Amino acid sequence: MPEIPSSDVDLYTEEARIDPYEIYADLRRLGPVVHLSRYDLYALSRYDDVRGALSDWQTFSSARGVFVDPEVNARLEGITLCSDPPEHTAMRSVLGRPLRPERIREVTPRIEAEAAQVVERLVERGRFEVVTELAEYLPMTVVSDLVGLGDHGQAKMLEWAAAIWNTQGPADERAAAAGPAVEEFMDYAATTAVPGRIDPDGWAAQLYAAADRGELPRDKCPMMMLDYVTPSLDTTILAITNAIALFAEYPDQWRLLCEDRSLIPHAINESLRLESPVPQFSRVLTEDHEISGVPLPSGSRVALLYASANRDDRHYPDPDRFDITRRPSDHLAFGRGEHVCVGLHLARLEMTALLERLADRVTRFEVQHRRPLINNGLRGLDRLEVAVRTSP
Ligand code: HEM
Repeated sequence: MPEIPSSDVDLYTEEARIDPYEIYADLRRLGPVVHLSRYDLYALSRYDDVRGALSDWQTFSSARGVFVDPEVNARLEGITLCSDPPEHTAMRSVLGRPLRPERIREVTPRIEAEAAQVVERLVERGRFEVVTELAEYLPMTVVSDLVGLGDHGQAKMLEWAAAIWNTQGPADERAAAAGPAVEEFMDYAATTAVPGRIDPDGWAAQLYAAADRGELPRDKCPMMMLDYVTPSLDTTILAITNAIALFAEYPDQWRLLCEDRSLIPHAINESLRLESPVPQFSRVLTEDHEISGVPLPSGSRVALLYASANRDDRHYPDPDRFDITRRPSDHLAFGRGEHVCVGLHLARLEMTALLERLADRVTRFEVQHRRPLINNGLRGLDRLEVAVRTSP
């Protein structure tokens, strides 16, 4: 029986949160399954293994949580992200209603108009801060308005969402510091963001309406409301920021995109592949199972390292290069299978709208300052100041 390599590498140091790619490359070299001794997790770091796990929910279950810390996993059991069919199917079908492509088409004109305005305003100035001034704009205006939580909820959303993400790693200092904001968010979801106090036409209110029709248990609604807030903001904000940072670093790729707008969907995929905002989730084996010839016992928690799989040279030649002609539509930055990101059409729409308008005006981005985000569940930049050169 092959021995499983073990590593005491820490994926949660500040350095590893900023740049995990060397660690990922080491894990991929060590073997298809590596035991991470600090967290008693079995890391899957190669593309085929991660994709295989995502395509087999019966064996790789989400129902015992998809995070690292056992306490957080126990607490969040049963939310959409942390459930298996048939319970998951019922919740996801209600949650996903306003996010279906035909509903996203209805909000497209509004998002495109807002994108045009914000880009025009910022480009006129010649330099701006990408995270707060560009990338946060659509998620914080249009998306939070569609969720319909009102002013107090909107003002706190980013702080609450970042706190929840910070609890998705081990029970370290970052997670402890996030505790009070997480409690505040949970309390807000249960007591304030309830019918009568939220926009009756918003997505959150539609969850309660579905519960009233008997489509879901009503006590699931507060946690499902969190599903519209936690995964929808920072992920998209990071994805937009990461894309701009990559285009600043690779001006030839920006020129290509400006010359041929049909490359925009591929550029979005390529930037998500190379800089995946959600580096990992986990699953628990429901039975003894072999992964690329390595047997693991039932009950093992496996970490699916999406951000590593997306840079696996077994699947993507020259994986560290940003190449928008690569067309990597099979990347795993949105996950895959039963839990594939339910908001991906919305995220793509927001990114497309901004890139289209930027391509009308900007010929080159130049980075003035960048600061990495340090968060246990997310990866990317916290600040990115750019100067832009514009077409005459
Ligand atoms: C570029 C932006 C985004 C990225 C990179 C991203 C990433 C992901 C990933 C990796 C998963 C899979 C979870 C798993 O494997 O268990 C996921 C699921 C999910 N995403 Fe996204 N996401 C993004 C945008 C959004 C948006 C805009 C929304 C909502 C409006 C959203 C809502 C969700 C929800 C609710 C789930 C859980 C689905 C389920 O468990 O069935 N995401 N996302």
